[in-house]
Amino acid sequence: MTIEHQIQVETLLSHLFAEAKKDRFKVLKGFAKSVLKGIQPADFKEAYLSISKEQGEDLKELIVANKLRNIVEFGTSFGISTLYLAQGAAETNGHVISTELIESKALAARENFKKAGLNDRIEVRIGDAMETLENHKESIDLLLLDGWKDLYLPLFQMLELNFHGKTQIYVDNADMSETKAFLEVIRRNTNYKMEAKFGGKVVLITVNDIN
Ligand SMILES: C[S@@+](CC[C@H](N)C(=O)[O-])C[C@H]1O[C@@H](n2cnc3c(N)ncnc32)[C@H](O)[C@@H]1O
Repeated sequence: MTIEHQIQVETLLSHLFAEAKKDRFKVLKGFAKSVLKGIQPADFKEAYLSISKEQGEDLKELIVANKLRNIVEFGTSFGISTLYLAQGAAETNGHVISTELIESKALAARENFKKAGLNDRIEVRIGDAMETLENHKESIDLLLLDGWKDLYLPLFQMLELNFHGKTQIYVDNADMSETKAFLEVIRRNTNYKMEAKFGGKVVLITVNDIN
C-alpha cells in the first residue's frame, strides 16, 4: 500500500472509531430490548461493538509477519476489523471473506470498504455465517471469531477441515462466559495450543506442531 492509501484508510478508521465511541447508548438500548427474548443480533443493528485500534494493528502485524493470505471473519459489523484485515491482506496479496447477519450493517460496511479503496480485497457474505460459510472449500490461514459467541464452537468445528499447520484462530471477547466455555473445549484438544493477549480479551489459537 502507498503512504497515501494508508492515510486514506487511517482517516476513515478514525471516523469509524469516533462513531463507535457513541456505542455505549446503542449497546444499552440493545440489551434493554433483549431482556425478555434473550440477546438478538438485530437489537444491536446500530452498534459497532468493534475491536480496538491496538487489536486491529495486532491483526495486521500477524498477517504480514506470517504471510497470511486466506482470511475469514465471523462478524463484520460496520467493517472496522475487516479494514485492518484487508490492510494486512494488501501486503500479502491475500483476501478477506467477512460475514454479517444484519443486512443494513453489511451494506454500510461495503460502502466503507469502497471508501477505503480496499473493496477488491474483501468479499462480504450477508446472512448467518453457519450458512454463508457452509461448504467453504478454500484453506484458511486466519480465522477471526468476533460474532455471536454461542456460534464460536459450531463455526470452528464446521471450518476445522479448512485449517492447516499454520492456521491461526484469533478469538475476540475471550473473557466472556460463552467464549470461555468454547475455549475450554479447545483446551482439551491436543491439536491446538492457545496464547492469551490483551490481558485475556483475546486468545490466539494455533495448531500444535507436536501432532
Ligand atoms: C462484535 S460485532 C463485530 C465487530 C467487528 N468484527 C469489528 O470489530 O468491527 C458482531 C457482529 O456479528 C454479527 N453476527 C451475529 N451473529 C451472526 C451470524 N450468525 N452470522 C453472521 N454474523 C453474525 C452481529 O450482527 C454483529 O454485527
